[in-house]
Amino acid sequence: MVADPAARIAALTAQLNEHNYRYYVLAAPTITDEAYDRLLAELRQLEAACPESVLTDSPSLRVGGQPTTDFPTVAHAVPMLSLDNSYSPDDVRDFDRRVCQALGLDSVGYVAELKIDGVALSLHYVDSVLARAVTRGDGLRGDDITANARTIRTVPLRLRQAGWDLEVRGEVFMPRADFARLNQEREEAGEALFANPRNSTAGSLKLQDPRLAARRGLRFAAYWLATDRAVPATHWDRLGLLRELGLPVDPAAERCPDLDAVFAYCARQEAGRDQLAYDIDGVVIKVDRVEHQQALGTTAKSPRHALALKFRARQARTQLLDVTFQVGRTGVITPVAVLAPVALAGTTISRATLHNQDEIERLQLHQGDQVVLEKGGDVIPKVVAVETAGRPDQARPIVFPTQCPACRATLAREADAAATRCENPTCPAQLRRRLEHFASRQAMDIEGLGPAAVEQLVERQLVADVGDLYQLNLEALVALDRLGERSAQNLLDGLAASRQRPFDRVLFALGIRHVGTTVARSLARHFGSLDRLLQADEDALEQAPEIGPTIARSVRDYFATPQADALLAKLRDAGLQLMSELEPTASAPLVASRFAGTTVVLTGALERFSRDEAAAMIESLGGKTAASVSRRTGLVVAGPGAGSKLEKARELGVPVIDEAEFLAWVAAARPE
Ligand code: IVH
Repeated sequence: MVADPAARIAALTAQLNEHNYRYYVLAAPTITDEAYDRLLAELRQLEAACPESVLTDSPSLRVGGQPTTDFPTVAHAVPMLSLDNSYSPDDVRDFDRRVCQALGLDSVGYVAELKIDGVALSLHYVDSVLARAVTRGDGLRGDDITANARTIRTVPLRLRQAGWDLEVRGEVFMPRADFARLNQEREEAGEALFANPRNSTAGSLKLQDPRLAARRGLRFAAYWLATDRAVPATHWDRLGLLRELGLPVDPAAERCPDLDAVFAYCARQEAGRDQLAYDIDGVVIKVDRVEHQQALGTTAKSPRHALALKFRARQARTQLLDVTFQVGRTGVITPVAVLAPVALAGTTISRATLHNQDEIERLQLHQGDQVVLEKGGDVIPKVVAVETAGRPDQARPIVFPTQCPACRATLAREADAAATRCENPTCPAQLRRRLEHFASRQAMDIEGLGPAAVEQLVERQLVADVGDLYQLNLEALVALDRLGERSAQNLLDGLAASRQRPFDRVLFALGIRHVGTTVARSLARHFGSLDRLLQADEDALEQAPEIGPTIARSVRDYFATPQADALLAKLRDAGLQLMSELEPTASAPLVASRFAGTTVVLTGALERFSRDEAAAMIESLGGKTAASVSRRTGLVVAGPGAGSKLEKARELGVPVIDEAEFLAWVAAARPE
């Protein structure tokens, strides 16, 4: 232990904060990541020994505080408005004319900034220490999410000059690379994917457990301040002040003396947007002089001194080579467009999902067609249009199959559902997907069982279900192509190790419809063992937190089949963990969600999921679903074609959201 731990803690805290500033604000680090981590480790060790000496701005506090169950709401001293949008140069010229006229000037100077596609956040510093962070909320009141904001590395916990009482506003966002990593983890965990970085940012800020938020790679960029102290008279100089105080400001901001400079800026940023590490959806122009801003005032919704110039969704044309029909683990058939590779929004696209049978029928595609792809804010490119001109007469129309492409079983579609399924329990394609899922990292994490090994095990009929994996021996495995003795042994060791995975992982690994990691954990915790779970009827299942009738029915249906019986017997024999070590909890929800305690009615067509899937999501987030709209209905999710239920909802004043908004709500509520 050093002679004066408190002094060393103070020195390390200051040093690490200085390095953070150089890294995130100046973008000019002076030490390596490794050296930084060494200093942080030393600080953590000293802080553990002397907790009374931990400083409020210690970088170690960024890993997150204790989970909360609710976020207090806080009123904004100045409302958090939104921006007026425009899509064309003419709109910008009109805006400039209005501004000049209102101010009685011939021209005004602007500052142009990137419109980062994230979530607005207000930070309050008291005596230069971060005291509170509040979301925009409805513009008048937001949620106090201070614990989560502290985990954002670019949010300084203490300003670089003493004595400031200050409110700072800016954008929290998730760089594309962090977003891709997060979605990959979620895919492996069988969880709903975030549609875009903005949704995942909103979801991360609402996490109940800041330790999880800390791992999301969020960033912050400041664009506004308010204080009682004397500050510069222009927006540009205020951005400079923010930087001096240690707050990150987007380096792309520029002063534009006139409209031509504004247009040049927009063109440059639109052309360069794919080179950025994060998404932008346009640029923002702001009148530079703050006294002019104040003179212009605001409308009910937005300030008159600023305008967002939104970029158009990017499109590309390419040829549809074919459509393949993929069979998922639960038998759902997903049509996937195979495209001539084309560059779009910084990535090369060669595949696009066509969602389901309805989409295939809507688009009336033919092999070889020219199609138009569009990428808006979402990761998944969409086929928005088909060009029929020039299509040869003999072009083959794309038809949704009536039989499973893998096993030829007749496909089925439930009334009212978007998904078409193969219901053959022995379908080899489903088996492959089930094996891959069973072996995946968040499930049984079986080393050595990749897609190539799975393919051969199924092809050679060495396994008929995941339980057969535990009967494999070295001899059988060595006989597989391209699997030497070492890899075969590696796989056997992987299988042996997987016997120790806890019960909730086993439950998740079974691949039961609607049972992701969260639901599996809830079931394992509530019932404690497979035997008790098997005894539970639907009512008993619904007693577990997060479980509603749709999930309960899916779990019951799964266990009621003879295939499940046979499989569970094999897993028992193999010595898997079928008792839970998780502590049973009271029925406190695992997630905070806007669906909690709400009765939701689904109506019209949903594009991304079946009714069942949407219902399961609502239930797993604490809501209920109902078939008809009444005074007790809390929310209606309406897709295209919604009719009388939507009308009734409007009549009764029940809030209505569309599928995109529904997805955003789900994303915002997911726990990890
Ligand atoms: S100024 C009065 N500047 O866009 C609004 N907003 O619809 C003050 N945004 O809620 C916002 N980048 O979340 C401003 N450079 C920027 C921005 C920006 C992104 C977001 C912000 C706001 C929304 C406006």
